[in-house]
Amino acid sequence: MKPDGEFSERVAMVTGGGSGIGASTCELLARRGAAVAVVDFDYDSAQRVANALQGIGAHALALQADVTDSDAMERAVAIATRVLGGLNMAVNNAGIPSPCVAVGELDMDTWNRVLAVNLTGVFLSMRHQIPALLANGHGAIVNVSSLLGINGMAGRSAYAAAKHGVVGLTKSAALDYAGQGLRINAVAPGYVDTPLLKGRNSAERDALADQHPIGRLAQPEEIAETIAFLLSRRTSFITGQTYLVDGGFSAR
Ligand SMILES: NC(=O)c1ccc[n+]([C@@H]2O[C@H](COP(=O)([O-])OP(=O)(O)OC[C@H]3O[C@@H](n4cnc5c(N)ncnc54)[C@H](O)[C@@H]3O)[C@@H](O)[C@H]2O)c1
Repeated sequence: MKPDGEFSERVAMVTGGGSGIGASTCELLARRGAAVAVVDFDYDSAQRVANALQGIGAHALALQADVTDSDAMERAVAIATRVLGGLNMAVNNAGIPSPCVAVGELDMDTWNRVLAVNLTGVFLSMRHQIPALLANGHGAIVNVSSLLGINGMAGRSAYAAAKHGVVGLTKSAALDYAGQGLRINAVAPGYVDTPLLKGRNSAERDALADQHPIGRLAQPEEIAETIAFLLSRRTSFITGQTYLVDGGFSAR
């Protein structure tokens, strides 16, 4: 761990930390000195990431929790706080894709599951993280929304509704705590080359890449950089915002 890193002596929790954007964020925060609680409902992947962080000298802890389970998230925050010595930063990143179905054919179970993980999971995570963050007198949260938190897309109504919800939740939570030293922002990535896209074949992935004016998919490290920026003291006057990281997709 770098003792002089910008996040040294700070503790972070990253949900969905076992893969993709979450795993890259864990690594970046650890390389910059943070102790990291890697939370995922897939314990093996969380453990693999925590082991890798320990391999670079960071203080890291793997925790199994489903973000839709309030008791599990309360326990995860309590354990992380006790073992790592507090909580200063949280990244609420756990999420699932939704199948491509028009609204008129979307079944209730799919709707409920996508909303539960992608929106209620962010609420429940913040609900339990915020008292721990306030106990330290200052802190920062970054919630992971999506380009589909800003734009709509045919066939993706449940996902887009959840990710639009994350933007509104982030704004309102930021206003709740703006006067108490706690900043809350969101990132809205375009399409990122992670296991979340594993359901798409290579022609579909190429077509997605072509929709970004930069001409490719994002790499998870590029999203992690923006998350770290919003967590850092360099953005001490930014709260309640959603930062698009979409290769120019939404600029047209
Ligand atoms: N990949 C993209 O193109 C893209 C684009 C925009 C936004 N996002 C968002 O970024 C976030 C991370 O996505 P990713 O691409 O890294 O996906 P990923 O599938 O690589 O990683 C998601 C992680 O979340 C975990 N997870 C899923 N449900 C969970 C639950 N209920 N409780 C705890 N952990 C859970 C998974 O086990 C996995 O480790 C998601 O919120 C996703 O919606 C992704």
